[in-house]
Amino acid sequence: MEPNQLVSQVEELCVEVGKWMLEQRVSPEAIETKSLNNFVSFVDKTAEEKLVNILHDLAPKAGFIAEEGTGTPNKNGCNWIIDPLDGTTNFLHGIPVFCISIALEINHELVLGVIHDPNRNETYSAVKKGGSKCNGHPISVSKTLQLEDALLATGFPYDDFGKQEEYLKLLGEITKRTRGVRRLGSAALDLAYVACGRCDLFYEYALNPWDVAAGILLVREAGGSVSNFAGEDDALFGDHILASNTHTHPEMLEAIQRYF
Ligand code: IPD
Ligand code: CA
Ligand code: CA
Repeated sequence: MEPNQLVSQVEELCVEVGKWMLEQRVSPEAIETKSLNNFVSFVDKTAEEKLVNILHDLAPKAGFIAEEGTGTPNKNGCNWIIDPLDGTTNFLHGIPVFCISIALEINHELVLGVIHDPNRNETYSAVKKGGSKCNGHPISVSKTLQLEDALLATGFPYDDFGKQEEYLKLLGEITKRTRGVRRLGSAALDLAYVACGRCDLFYEYALNPWDVAAGILLVREAGGSVSNFAGEDDALFGDHILASNTHTHPEMLEAIQRYF
């Protein structure tokens, strides 16, 4: 399992499944509800099967942590971490902001990440210690120094309202202190946009490992920083995440910690 050798095969796989995704139409009757405001269709499930089948052939020893439950996780921390369709609500509403996100962890360490946006035909990839790329070209985080010059991305939990009041107070504060806040609807793309410098920061809570795994590696390999809201490294299984261009990380962390 050599990440440098696997990455182009994973990119090609994402492009192929992304093309198939764009050809699919889901009728309202075909939408299933997994939990409150959490939807799924045959597109998420079939895409995941297609991905898992090929990834299993590419690295037979790796297990799977996949959103729709295909495959089984490997306890030794060697797993593909997959969101077959990040931005399902956008997809179902015909809003062209969604992607495929695939990461590989070996010994509990992220070593490969690919995020593919089929609408823009952009494929982001990172290999541990190899930098981050978009469509084969190196990318890096922005050079913005202060929060007042920063553009942020976030998302709002749709089924976990325990911290909603604090989250909205934080949003009120940073809306006044920054260039603005975007809610794109795909956490993986939010992270890819921090990695390539389109956004300076991204923060959200109540996410799952498949939403953020590939994006965490992309941001770090592009020169950015990723932490949880306590400022610790564990953002993969930590439920809350702050990803930044590094320069603006301390200022945003301080704001977050006034509410969390
Ligand atoms: C969702 C998206 C969204 C985020 C949600 C995620 P899904 O993933 O990443 O931006 O706010 O919390 O669950 O359900 O579309 O794969
Ligand atoms: Ca997701
Ligand atoms: Ca998903």
